[in-house]
Formats: sequence, C-alpha cells, structure tokens
Amino acid sequence: MLKANANGYSLESLYALVPHELRGYVELVYDLHNHPSFRLFERLMYKSRFYDPKLQSIMLSLITQDDRPFVLSTPRFEEPGKAHLQIPFASEQLDFLFQLKVKSASFGEIKDRLSLADTDDQVFRGFLGKEPVRKYVPYDGKGARWRYFGHACILVEAGGSCILSDPVLSYTYENNISRYTYEDLPDVIDCVLITHNHQDHLLFETLLQLRSKIRMIVVPKNAGGALQDPSMKLILQQCGFKNVVDLEEMEEAQFGPLHLTTLPFLGEHGDLDIRTKLAYLVRVSGHSLLFAADSCNISPEMYKHVHQEIGDVDVVFLGMECAGAPMSWLYGPLLTERMERAQDHSRRLAGSNYERAHDIVERFRCKELYVYAMGQEPWLNYVMSVKYTPESHPIVQSNKLLEACAQKGVIAERLFGEKEILLS
Ligand SMILES: [Fe+2]
Ligand SMILES: [Fe+2]
Repeated sequence: MLKANANGYSLESLYALVPHELRGYVELVYDLHNHPSFRLFERLMYKSRFYDPKLQSIMLSLITQDDRPFVLSTPRFEEPGKAHLQIPFASEQLDFLFQLKVKSASFGEIKDRLSLADTDDQVFRGFLGKEPVRKYVPYDGKGARWRYFGHACILVEAGGSCILSDPVLSYTYENNISRYTYEDLPDVIDCVLITHNHQDHLLFETLLQLRSKIRMIVVPKNAGGALQDPSMKLILQQCGFKNVVDLEEMEEAQFGPLHLTTLPFLGEHGDLDIRTKLAYLVRVSGHSLLFAADSCNISPEMYKHVHQEIGDVDVVFLGMECAGAPMSWLYGPLLTERMERAQDHSRRLAGSNYERAHDIVERFRCKELYVYAMGQEPWLNYVMSVKYTPESHPIVQSNKLLEACAQKGVIAERLFGEKEILLS
C-alpha cells in the first residue's frame, strides 16, 4: 500500500488505507531519502489479540542421538513416544518441569503440576529416571576458567560468578565426541549474553530449560518497531524471563569480578537494518576475552576506532562461517517483492573470511585466537544444517588463519566439541 501510494506528500490520508487489523498499531513514516516505511508499536502489539500464548506448546521426547529434525520445521505433529503439552512459554510449569532434572518429585505431583492427561502417563513415565544427576562443581580456583560447550556457547567462571554466551547445548547421551552438556552448568548463571537473533545463538529450546537458573540476560537493543528487527527483550519477557537487559554498543556492566563491554557487530544480516547484534568484551582477573560471534569485518575502520577505546585483547573468539546463506533464506518472507537471485546471493548471512578475521587478530594484537560458531558439532545439525568438507570455504579460510597465527606465535585453534582453559 505504501509503495503504491506514498509519493512524498503527507502520509496522513493513507492511514485510512492501512489494513483494518493493523490500524492503531503502526505509524507511517518517510526516511530521510523520502522512502516510505512504517514502524510497529511493538509492546502494544504484545498486548493485542495478535499475541496469543495459547498457541504455544512444547513437545517432549527422549533425545538419545545428535540427529534430529530441523529446528524451524514446525508445527510438530503428534507422534508415538512424544508428549505434546499445551503450556505457554511464560508458565512456571516449565520451570517446575525442567527443575525435575535436579529436584525429584513423585509421579502424582508431576502429573498434577503439569496438568498431564491420563493418556500421557505411559509416555511421560518413560522420561523419568531414579538416578540422581551428577552434581556440578563450580570453579573455585584462582583467576578464571572458560569452557567451550560447542558452537558459540562458552561458560566463563571467576570468583563465584559466571557468564554464559549464546546457550545452545547438547543433551547427555552415549556418543563418540566428548562434550559438555546441560549437566555441566552451575546451579546459578549470573548472566547470559546473546550476540544476535539467529537460531544458533538464541535458541528457545535451551533457554527455556535454563530459565530458572538465569539471573540476568543481556541482549542487544533493537531500533524499535521494524519488522525485520523485533525486540529480543520483549520476546524474552513475554516468554517469562524476568531480568532482561538490552544494551547498545559501547556500554559497560559489571557482574562480580566479570566486567562487560558491548561492542559493535558488523554485517551477517544481508545489509538489512538490524540492530539486534552485539559483540561482547569480557574482562576478568587481568584477562580480556572478545566474543565477536559472526561479526563480519566489512569495515575494518570500525575496529580501529574500537581498539582506540578498549586497547589490545588477550583472547578473541570469532565465527568464520564465511560462505553463509543468501539473505532470503532467513528474511525472504518479510520482503515486499521478490529479489533478483544475483542480488540475493550478493547479500549473504556470512561471517568473516581469512582477510577480515586476520585484520581483527592484527588490530587487537591478541595472544590467542579461537575460531568458533562454525556449526561443526553434530548436535548443531538440527539448528544449522551445514555440512563441511575439507574444501568448504569456511574451513579453507579458517585453516589459513590458523596457519598465519601459528607463524606469528599466536595460539590458534578451531574449536570443536569441548575445550577448557584456565586463566591464571
Ligand atoms: Fe548469525
Ligand atoms: Fe552463527
């Protein structure tokens, strides 16, 4: 409607042409180039009939292997061996359910608290066991410890406090790749950091299970009201997360001994105006760790300015999935007209390649470089569906970076499976 009717003149008369359902929920605007657009009153929409938590449900099944159906393939249909519970995400019933992993309850109480139907009895009993879960021992040594849980998920512990980045976790089952799982997390997670709104970094399956442990979630702030850039803070709040803080670039926060600085995150979103992306600098016991996620260094001058502010960094974690999907793979359904294939393929959801990553290593004079967030772990398949060969671009490019780092005496590794490092 806007494309057909907004011609640089006042938009006032066009409010009458806004589809009935949307009236009162949008403001029509021009940008400074006289391009017409709109913004949504996001918070107001969550209070409208368009936000219906009754549409939310969870499906439980026994997961005993890495292979699983793709995460975004919904809805899920009823299947034998699976329990489908009509519980809204914000419900405290879910906290009770997931706390059962460490806190036992009788079957009668479980059934009652979760309002289980008699027909679910048999399936649900199959999910329960009598073995106590192994108790997690928090790090109480000097300095800090970080542990890699796969992809972009890293736990940093120091002085009794901890930060967990982009939680995406494997369950515990027989397998041939050593890994940390849900069982390797502290009872309390002081702060969860989310870098951006892609399903391999913001995954509800994991987050909902951790909700009762999480004291605070830090997310990037959105621009407000853009369809392609919904507020992560609002989404999480609607889903029952109590302490969600959204930060902009170059802000600071302190969690016990862990000091946090938010940094700009470039690219990776097909040049769409998406603000919900941040890199995080964590300083602890005299060490600095940069979690850059899929930041694509398309404008190295940005890091020059950032370096002037924060100085050198000891450890850099950087994603190098530099092939990436075409923009329409994730955002296509939001576009108002079909893009030409060549345009679409030029605007990729891709992280840094060798050159761009190398510039970051040089700029921050890091002592250690870890390539992460590559989707290589098999338990990430259901989220990422990437399959690499030794010839795959991201593997070739990251190998080249590892070699360049080795020549310089920078410790460098492409993380896979699990890793633990102590910072004295
Ligand atoms: Fe991403
Ligand atoms: Fe990613």
